[in-house]
Amino acid sequence: MLNDQVIVVTGGAGLVGKAFVKAIAEKSGIPIIADISLEKGEQAKASLDQTLQANIGVIELDITNKQSVQKQIAALKQKYGKIDALVNNAYPRNKNYGRHFFDVELDDFNENVSLHLGGYFNASKHFAKFFIEQGRGNIVNISSIYGLVAPRFHIYEGTKMTVPVEYAVIKSGLNHLTQYMAAYLKDKNIRVNTLTLGGILDGQADLFIKSYRNECLNKGMLNPEDVVGSLLYLLSEKSKYVNGQNIVVDDGFIL
Ligand SMILES: NC(=O)c1ccc[n+]([C@@H]2O[C@H](COP(=O)([O-])OP(=O)(O)OC[C@H]3O[C@@H](n4cnc5c(N)ncnc54)[C@H](O)[C@@H]3O)[C@@H](O)[C@H]2O)c1
Repeated sequence: MLNDQVIVVTGGAGLVGKAFVKAIAEKSGIPIIADISLEKGEQAKASLDQTLQANIGVIELDITNKQSVQKQIAALKQKYGKIDALVNNAYPRNKNYGRHFFDVELDDFNENVSLHLGGYFNASKHFAKFFIEQGRGNIVNISSIYGLVAPRFHIYEGTKMTVPVEYAVIKSGLNHLTQYMAAYLKDKNIRVNTLTLGGILDGQADLFIKSYRNECLNKGMLNPEDVVGSLLYLLSEKSKYVNGQNIVVDDGFIL
């Protein structure tokens, strides 16, 4: 399905990124784990089946840093002669991220929006420049249900969790960055789409998982493996003329 496609997955060492990398490798693609932590990237690769590891690349890349992105694009071009796609999936946040609305300081708000949304912009901009030179390209932005609907604050009652205001701003902004870039890159043979995910299981408290389940149709919180199919579709030729769109994989949470 993805025969020899070189696909850069930012934050590829994380919860969702690792599942993306595995799925791309299983479809004969060449996933590149592009993470700010090289060590985490190497560990993520080593945790996958030996047969898959041969085709997986690992690079140190900071989406918020122009030089880092430019350097790695040049290195990938040198090594593979091409880059087929960028999956914007990293999840940068500062040490104060995750606070409740009235506890968020302006500096933290600005920094988190800058790291995450600014980082996605930075990576997209430099990859898009390369894609223009190359004559084709594909960008998939990983977004969230909270970029589309207001937080369901009641499902966090009784837990320490919340939906940080920055996250809502970042992901709703990202959805429109997709549309902006898709339109801006008209006639360049470059696609830009969003893949919106529902909540992913990661050891959350039972109470929260139960409350979240009530908002959904058949499962509730999803496993990382549940969301890879739509990414593979967006990376493949099967979605050749899907451009500027948003595919939502959330078990009906936003209905
Ligand atoms: N986990 C969920 O429930 C969920 C739900 C919806 C959407 N998402 C989205 O999925 C994506 C991945 O989330 P996750 O839960 O796997 O996060 P995660 O924290 O498990 O992994 C994020 C990865 O990004 C890397 N990273 C951080 N800053 C970076 C930078 N500046 N440059 C490059 N890499 C950097 C980290 O080292 C880490 O490996 C995010 O866009 C997130 O918003 C997650």
